[in-house]
Amino acid sequence: MLKREIEDGEQSLADPAFRADVLRGFGLRPRAIPARWFYDRRGSELFEAITDLPEYYPTRTETAILRDCSPEVAALAGPGRAVVEFGSGSSTKTPILLSAVAPAAYVPIDISGDFLRASSAELAAAFPGLPVLPVEADFLRPVPFPAQVADLPKLGFFPGSTIGNMIPHASVDLLRAMKNSLGEGAMLLIGMDRIKDTGVLTAAYDDAQGVTAAFNLNLLERINRELGGTIPLDRFRHRALWNDDRARIEMHLEAVEDIAFTIDGRSFDMEAGETIHTENSHKFAPRDARLLLRAGGWTPIAEWTDPQDLFAVILAEAQPPRLAP
Ligand code: AVI
Repeated sequence: MLKREIEDGEQSLADPAFRADVLRGFGLRPRAIPARWFYDRRGSELFEAITDLPEYYPTRTETAILRDCSPEVAALAGPGRAVVEFGSGSSTKTPILLSAVAPAAYVPIDISGDFLRASSAELAAAFPGLPVLPVEADFLRPVPFPAQVADLPKLGFFPGSTIGNMIPHASVDLLRAMKNSLGEGAMLLIGMDRIKDTGVLTAAYDDAQGVTAAFNLNLLERINRELGGTIPLDRFRHRALWNDDRARIEMHLEAVEDIAFTIDGRSFDMEAGETIHTENSHKFAPRDARLLLRAGGWTPIAEWTDPQDLFAVILAEAQPPRLAP
């Protein structure tokens, strides 16, 4: 999935795609490494810890919205759909939806088999009688659905505002891929984080306990661990900035002094103040969210927020093919 990648054999051979992204990323100006590499075992644990932080409002806010809106989602979607979750089921949000919508099956899709199997087993135990049919796949490509659900109408579920971690054209591609995979008559329930006070946003990505800083710095630790790097971790600091033009929080790692190090036997240096861009987390005003969904082939039909309008959960239906405006 986009946000979790558990590797049991972290000491064993490094993923060639990780090596390629890191070496390419250190050659870019500004330097940049894709956020998906945050999620090794330690990174996934740190992300779980982030979701409980007082400053990180998205998880608890979205969970509360889902508790309130699930009966309405059930009424709008109707019973008997296969609920298809993009990313492995979360321990709290998924059961809220499954309890409300009377699904015919639950299909979690994740690129990480380990995480998928663990969360599927948990869900199957909590919902005896519900067919739980995990699919190990990259949901950016057409998803090979199990035969049992091929003819069922689908309800896609993409919580967490994970869509915000993609740049706009990639998020449109993803929404279109979801629409193509889910088929005719599909619906999508998606979480999207709102634009809000800059202080609230930056605190959510730069918490007082330093858990988000540790999450960001773990990327360098992972490079040292898996790619034989010699990056001096204590010479970097975590930065979280609001980019108003692009409506996103950006995370960076900034060198605090001139440094030299090697990765996989190659030499690199950075001057004090130079940064590595590690994550974007886009936020959406109400119209931005609806426009993005429409661009991705989905028509929003209902929307729920919390009393402070921190976060939105939107239900959309797949646009039927049309040739004219
Ligand atoms: C997974 N994703 C939606 C999180 C976010 O809020 O963008 C990742 C994260 N990065 C730092 N804190 C949380």
